[in-house]
Amino acid sequence: MSRLIIVSNRVSPPVGEGQANQGGLAVALSSALRETNGIWFGWSGNEIEQFTGQINMARAGGVTSATIDLEPQDIDEYYNGFANRTLWPLFHDRTDLAEFERTFAGGYERVNARFAETMLPLITPDDLVWVHDYHLIPLGSELRQRDVKNRIGFFLHTPWPVARLLLSLPHHRQLVEALFDYDLLGFQCQAWLDSFLEYVRDQFPEAQIDAKGNIRVGGRDVRVVSCPIGIDAKEFIAGANSAEAAKAGQAMLKSLDGRSLIIGVDRLDYSKGLEQRFHGYERLLLDHPDYQETVSLLQIAPPSRADVVSYQDIRKQLDALSGHINGEFATVHWVPLRYVNRGYDRTSLAGMFRIARVGLVTPLRDGMNLVAKEYVAAQDPEDPGVLILSKFAGAAEQMQSALLVNPFSPEELSDALAQALSMPLEERKARWQPLRESVEREDVHCWLRCFLKALSGKGADVISFDEARHQGKNKQDAEHPEGIEARSFA
Ligand code: ADP
Ligand code: F6P
Repeated sequence: MSRLIIVSNRVSPPVGEGQANQGGLAVALSSALRETNGIWFGWSGNEIEQFTGQINMARAGGVTSATIDLEPQDIDEYYNGFANRTLWPLFHDRTDLAEFERTFAGGYERVNARFAETMLPLITPDDLVWVHDYHLIPLGSELRQRDVKNRIGFFLHTPWPVARLLLSLPHHRQLVEALFDYDLLGFQCQAWLDSFLEYVRDQFPEAQIDAKGNIRVGGRDVRVVSCPIGIDAKEFIAGANSAEAAKAGQAMLKSLDGRSLIIGVDRLDYSKGLEQRFHGYERLLLDHPDYQETVSLLQIAPPSRADVVSYQDIRKQLDALSGHINGEFATVHWVPLRYVNRGYDRTSLAGMFRIARVGLVTPLRDGMNLVAKEYVAAQDPEDPGVLILSKFAGAAEQMQSALLVNPFSPEELSDALAQALSMPLEERKARWQPLRESVEREDVHCWLRCFLKALSGKGADVISFDEARHQGKNKQDAEHPEGIEARSFA
């Protein structure tokens, strides 16, 4: 098997070594890297006065990491700027928050070129190179310009926006042309892939797109696949069943004093719909006063991207709104909303998920959403809770038996909460069972094999996770998806 080089903006220490880890990408890659014994290249997260291109190699948890430090201007223009003030809001349908500044675009190009130049000596001819996420779209193209002939794949962890929104980005064609330099493009779900193809058809009418998702454009062949990321289900379930998780769950139960717990766990990001979620909960307490003093919402939201103004703003709004809700409804014995801005270790989180009657996962837009999968994995099969999931999360394509909601509507959120809180055990089990099966079957290892099989270019016939499930393929195939390569467009 070829050696794998994974490249992402941020390189975190591998999970499973006691650290809290706060990003879906980091969590998934740690599992993936342990499996493949690969190299993980990216930004250390550290600042250096002037960029040197020096690589810091380290080995931990079975993974070799190769990191570089970036200078302040790089961090401002590339990470805080083009990645998180331009592309992130645009890709999450927030053109109102997107800022289009030439300096950001310049910094983005410069840092992608720096990544390419620095990692070049690490690449040997048989390596597979796998680039992750919106920070690094031009990296494949930068590597090609340096004569890298290896197979290079790109996976987008965020949504891909509809074409008419992407048109608001200056030089949008240039960004997409850079994607054509990859051999394989992976999206989290069919909806994002469809948006991408809609854009390509519209802007590159000369492109030939076949039924298997092969695009021929500008003399290059690119393949596109829908390949949903999963969690390390086995590990998470084991964590949820552990004594440590039970301890965290018991401590929480004690503090609830017989009340039902609704739980939300998200990075503090405007795309997660926390404001709307709080309004939905407020609506529940107003429309169903019986729930006052009998439920509690725990929202865990560690701060994220704190140098970006829109993140500072959402934090202020949530501080005010949580204070308002507690001021409106709290009694001397009951705090309706526990709003916590810090990270927790995964086992404690699993323990809290397990005892929560409702998992409230309502992003306004989300590439996938791993919290939804973790909540499902953590449940007690004899007494599972109910997942309320946004229709606008990539995870909704796989998790149809959750209570699917429009996260923009407080009434819909309130109705779903009331339904979940009063749902009989039989219905809870019936809804949870298929969710648990898909979370286990379509886990992070399945995602990894699906993408790498397609990237290594082996096998001709393609089939998606989704098709395998819908065709009722036998369980053996689903559990050993080596044969699954990529999605069919037929
Ligand atoms: P995103 O990648 O946008 O942050 P995901 O839901 O896909 O969103 O992934 C978030 C990951 O971060 C999940 O694995 C979740 O458990 C973890 N996480 C989120 N908040 C916390 C927290 N407060 N403490 C520990 N882990 C967290
Ligand atoms: O899942 C999207 C993502 O941007 C990941 O790439 C990243 O690991 C996570 O969110 C956390 O974001 P950041 O690295 O900006 O803290």
